Amino acid sequence: MTKKPSKEDYQLKERFKIESEVFDKNTLLGLSKLLKKGIIAAVDYCISTGKEANVFRATNSDGKHIAVKIYKVETAFFLKREEYLIGDPRFEKIKHTEKEIVKIFARKEYKNLEICEKAKINAPRPYYLLDNIIVMEFLGEGGLPYPTMDMVGPLHGEKDLDSILNDMKKMYKAGLVHADVSEYNIMIGSVPYFIDWGQGVVKEHPHANRYLERDVKIILKYFSKHGIKRDEEEVIKSIMK
Ligand SMILES: Nc1ncnc2c1ncn2[C@@H]1O[C@H](COP(=O)(O)OP(=O)(O)OP(=O)(O)O)[C@@H](O)[C@H]1O
Ligand SMILES: [Mg+2]
Repeated sequence: MTKKPSKEDYQLKERFKIESEVFDKNTLLGLSKLLKKGIIAAVDYCISTGKEANVFRATNSDGKHIAVKIYKVETAFFLKREEYLIGDPRFEKIKHTEKEIVKIFARKEYKNLEICEKAKINAPRPYYLLDNIIVMEFLGEGGLPYPTMDMVGPLHGEKDLDSILNDMKKMYKAGLVHADVSEYNIMIGSVPYFIDWGQGVVKEHPHANRYLERDVKIILKYFSKHGIKRDEEEVIKSIMK
């Protein structure tokens, strides 16, 4: 008679199944490189698994929490996003093979985070870039990541919108458009933080203004659903001023 697997066995199996989806070969290789280089001391847990990337919380050698975003190498997803590379003078001359494109998006996100840091925009501080991996400031408290705005809504009401629009103004002044603003790419701490900068473009991109208008529209629509309304044209004008 075959024995029914114990609950523990079952749970262990399930856990490995989940972990093997999170820690594919490439991700493990990336994490081990970071460990070897001493950039991280430990991988703590997986914060998020997505189509494009997995995000982990890790700890550095000073015992400080950091976030590690690993772009997935095996994905056709990025090819659909070429419009954000073609037209951005920083990246348009680079050959876009399927493997390279993932690294380019990681580099793009990293460079955009550097611009944010300089311009004092609320976004994670960039710490280190390695191929398809970004190491950055961990946004959270009590060891847990802040919620994204879709989870909790605009916690501080009008103040959150003001902060978001003020940051978008700073971005534009610094020559940058996020191009994927939504409640999913804003984390709510004591202030809102912009994350997920891979598709952000510089102002020289021929569609930069169209992306900015789209960003504004999306965010105003979201806040309007929460009873906070602003005039779209005025907002766009004040950002581009
Ligand atoms: N610096 C950070 N600190 C803490 N948590 C973070 C940080 N960056 C991202 N996260 C968490 O990871 C999630 C995914 O991050 P991000 O939006 O950058 O990836 P993504 O490219 O959208 O992934 P996908 O679109 O494939 O789901 C975020 O929703 C957030 O919960
Ligand atoms: Mg995202």
